[in-house]
Amino acid sequence: MTVGEMLKMMRDPLGAPFFPPALQVLLVVTWVLHIFFVTTALGSSALSIFAFTFRRTSESWLQLGRIAARLSPNSVGLGIVTGIAPLLFVQTIYDPLWYAANTLSGFWSAMFIFIMMGGYSLAYVFYLKGSKDGRLVFTAALSFVLLFFAGWVMHVLHSVSIRPDQWLRWYMPDGVIDTRGVTFHAYNIPRLVFLLPLQAALSLSAVVMFAAWYMRKRSDDHAFLEWTAGLGRKLGLVVSPIYGVAGLAWALTEGPEFGVTALIAVPVLGLSAALTGYFLALKRPIDKAPLSLAVWLAALLGVAVIREAIRVASMARFGYSVADYPYRMDWGSILVFGGTTIVGVMVVLYLVLVLYQANASKEGTISPRVERLGKIATGMLGAWFGFFFLVGIYTVLFLR
Ligand code: HEM
Repeated sequence: MTVGEMLKMMRDPLGAPFFPPALQVLLVVTWVLHIFFVTTALGSSALSIFAFTFRRTSESWLQLGRIAARLSPNSVGLGIVTGIAPLLFVQTIYDPLWYAANTLSGFWSAMFIFIMMGGYSLAYVFYLKGSKDGRLVFTAALSFVLLFFAGWVMHVLHSVSIRPDQWLRWYMPDGVIDTRGVTFHAYNIPRLVFLLPLQAALSLSAVVMFAAWYMRKRSDDHAFLEWTAGLGRKLGLVVSPIYGVAGLAWALTEGPEFGVTALIAVPVLGLSAALTGYFLALKRPIDKAPLSLAVWLAALLGVAVIREAIRVASMARFGYSVADYPYRMDWGSILVFGGTTIVGVMVVLYLVLVLYQANASKEGTISPRVERLGKIATGMLGAWFGFFFLVGIYTVLFLR
């Protein structure tokens, strides 16, 4: 049996529930949010550790360190939630890859939950118990290490998944089956450096500028806000060229394996040059913060497309393509998925607007339009619960 035949046989016999290329687009788009939040978590964690360890005498650094310590657990939470979305799509259109990788790295897939729990909890411990007076910095450091390690596990899983030609060798090294799942079978350090620490610095740069912009209406400490935004710009300016160098190293090491060296090198160098140019030209970082955030999210979308292009190129070697993944429109689940998405977006939008408006000004007033949206969103949530309850009753009574 060839690798291509094996991959086709491992697909879900029921087929995908929706047009597979549309799920592929959703995978790419939702991963942008995931990587943005997890890199923000790592970046803000690093910033708070730096501030409370090396800049304890500077009031501005301590103030920023406290903001970062608060941001870190919140971003981890958002990173987890937004990680589930691409997970759903990967499992649907790349199920042979995802499940094989999780089996071959079984120990780490299982440990991943505990690593995340540890990293998340410790980020909270530092925020709630340490960040006020700079105690317990070791909890922040341990949290950073665990969260970074979680990213490493993600990276290994993905790297194993796009190399199906190696699976048999990894499963049975020297002809003996190895079911421990403890070996990190595949990884690419330049890719990881590009995706995690460097993107953590760039996400931090965008978020720090945005925080300064956001706080300017309720804070009178303009010097601190200017300093914060300037720091964000400086960080972006220093890291953007290094981002290009790491990207080039990624292209030169992983590229030849799948015949995609130029496909990685050209866009990453372009991204690095564009970001460097942007930060150089950015004269008033505080006023342009929303634009800077949008620019960074657009760059991450570019990276998400590059990642997907590498996977597509790797799988094409074995004749596996999302375009010919069998599918059958499952209108029931499409309806439930669509309804849940609409209700979820409305509720999240309401919460985001309340949080935004409550802290955007000194008075913290919530506009009547947002209050109205809240009533509608809560009503929709009630209807959604009612619908699920009825589906449950119907299932129990009539589908037994
Ligand atoms: C702080 C913890 C985490 C970090 C730092 C992290 C980081 C990463 C990184 C760097 C990648 C890209 C790997 C690569 O392309 O080489 C990735 C992919 C991914 N992550 Fe996470 N992640 C974290 C937590 C999670 C969690 C909790 C979930 C699920 C609930 C998740 C779901 C995913 C998925 C589905 C992918 C895409 C896999 C693929 O395309 O094959 N991540 N993550």
